[in-house]
Amino acid sequence: MCGIVAYVGKKQAYPILITGLQRLAYRGYDSAGIALTNGSLNIYKKKGKVQDLIDYTELVQPEGTVGIGHTRWATHGEPNDINAHPHKSMNGKLAIVHNGIIENYASLKAELVKRGHEFESQTDTEILIHLIEEVQKSENVPLEEAVRLALHSVVGAYAIVVISESEPGKLVAARKSSPLVIGLGKDEYLIASDATPIVEHTKNVIYLNDEEIAVIDLENGLNIKSIDNENISPYIQELELKLEKIEKGGYDHFMLKEIHEQSNTLIECLRGRLSIEKGILMGGFRDVEDRFIHAKRIIMIACGTSWHAALVGEYLFEDLARIPVEVEYASEFRYRNPVIYEDDIVIALSQSGETADTLAAIRLAKQKGATVFGICNVVGSSIARESHAGAYTHAGPEIGVASTKAFTTQLGVLTMMAMKIAVSRNVMSDEEYRAIATELDNMPNLISEAIKSESKIKFIADEFKDVHNFLYLGRGYNFPIALEGALKLKEISYIHAEGYPAAEMKHGPIALIDEQMPVVVMATNESAYEKIVSNIQEVKARKGKIIAITTFADETIREIADYVIQIPETLEPLTPILSVIPLQLLAYHIAVNRDCNVDQPRNLAKSVTVE
Ligand code: G6P
Repeated sequence: MCGIVAYVGKKQAYPILITGLQRLAYRGYDSAGIALTNGSLNIYKKKGKVQDLIDYTELVQPEGTVGIGHTRWATHGEPNDINAHPHKSMNGKLAIVHNGIIENYASLKAELVKRGHEFESQTDTEILIHLIEEVQKSENVPLEEAVRLALHSVVGAYAIVVISESEPGKLVAARKSSPLVIGLGKDEYLIASDATPIVEHTKNVIYLNDEEIAVIDLENGLNIKSIDNENISPYIQELELKLEKIEKGGYDHFMLKEIHEQSNTLIECLRGRLSIEKGILMGGFRDVEDRFIHAKRIIMIACGTSWHAALVGEYLFEDLARIPVEVEYASEFRYRNPVIYEDDIVIALSQSGETADTLAAIRLAKQKGATVFGICNVVGSSIARESHAGAYTHAGPEIGVASTKAFTTQLGVLTMMAMKIAVSRNVMSDEEYRAIATELDNMPNLISEAIKSESKIKFIADEFKDVHNFLYLGRGYNFPIALEGALKLKEISYIHAEGYPAAEMKHGPIALIDEQMPVVVMATNESAYEKIVSNIQEVKARKGKIIAITTFADETIREIADYVIQIPETLEPLTPILSVIPLQLLAYHIAVNRDCNVDQPRNLAKSVTVE
């Protein structure tokens, strides 16, 4: 969601900014723009893809060694050329790019209108740059001071970068709740929403903290201040991100690459943590282990696919570690005055570590005294930094908007945590531990086996590419996977899909079943096997088309299902890691057949940094 990239250095900024915007495209956007200072301030912006912006500027050849760029995901005002960022001040000398939402924009606007300001766009961002202009005019201060003073009047979330025609060579950036990373190169600096536009220029980065303002020019280098004007010493970190990780590497789409990577990403996730002999060794867990052991309950909060991982977590923690778990949508949790006790543990799951609702929910939980444990993929992300303790999933950069490898590694982390707590609480025997640990250790191989069903899945995807509805059913550990399968399909193919616990089918969805209706049934888990067979019969009796996900050994369902996708058999608590693979592939191939933009589905964003 909204991507920011900015450059100051000795090179031409335009090509660097364009490549940066292309790197950020995965976050989801509907328009793109660039502003450069080169004697005067010039802004180029276009609705649509970065390519539309490139086409638009083809004859102009924008020049300048300082610039800001933006991919916009519309919040205030429809996607069009005018609402696209950068936005300029009334005198045309300042330009801004912004990620976030200025919540009090209406009152700020009313105030500015009284002072004679007129606005071109419908965005909250344009109000902010006019406010900065107004402060600069009345206080007669340098740009960074005007930004700092103006931000005192702002309620909401922001990551911004501002440039000025009158102070050429200077970038001023600030953040609150929306991420910004600063790259420190040789005679050049970059600023971006995440490290992907930076990695090919430098490995040295600084993550800006909330309510910090960075001022950069080549003469004075980088200076960081708090919004209250205190000097801040920056903490420089080295990026571990590798360029090849954010490129497609021969695959047609990032999503397909990421599905195929899952065997390796799970190895990375388990590496150094899972030991059959020594137990689970998780560094981030050590300080809070005691709290987990004595916890009366755990609350898991997340959004989207991460919420589905949390649902699997509920099964794992209750089944293996015998601790009650509540799973909450972060957006609901934070607004309903939740009851939180000081001995509660809140686990926040987030691929990006930047989801605005999840971030706000953990802040609330911390305020109320709970211990917050973050499970994030993006290293250095806000949720990772604001949690008391946590574990990274180590899936590497996930570029496809639809989450795949981040999900299976979230399950890897949750499984290890549940096993560790179970052993410490003496509710898991050594034998049980060894059995699950051995199977988890082998899971990367089983994932590779499961992926071999792809050609069969392609065939099924061809058969069903034109249907309007899909139903996904699962029980127990496979219920959250049914939800995830349905989410994957609707996200990228725009086919309406619903996931249901199989037994609930009789309480509603059965009314939808006819010969047009494909029903994907997860039929891998042993404990509910007979019941699942009955559910399949109920669908068949109403002429629904059954696509069953079964194990290689299964014979019963092979007889009754219309289509069967086989995956290896595994222990029930580990089933979700495997059974989600064919559902990811099914969604992917249906979407490809329908000519959908798989990696950047319409209206969706990778990192939802607004509430
Ligand atoms: C967006 C993405 C989803 C993701 C969800 C939660 O909706 O498109 O793929 O599952 O946000 O994101 P998080 O980064 O917190 O896991």
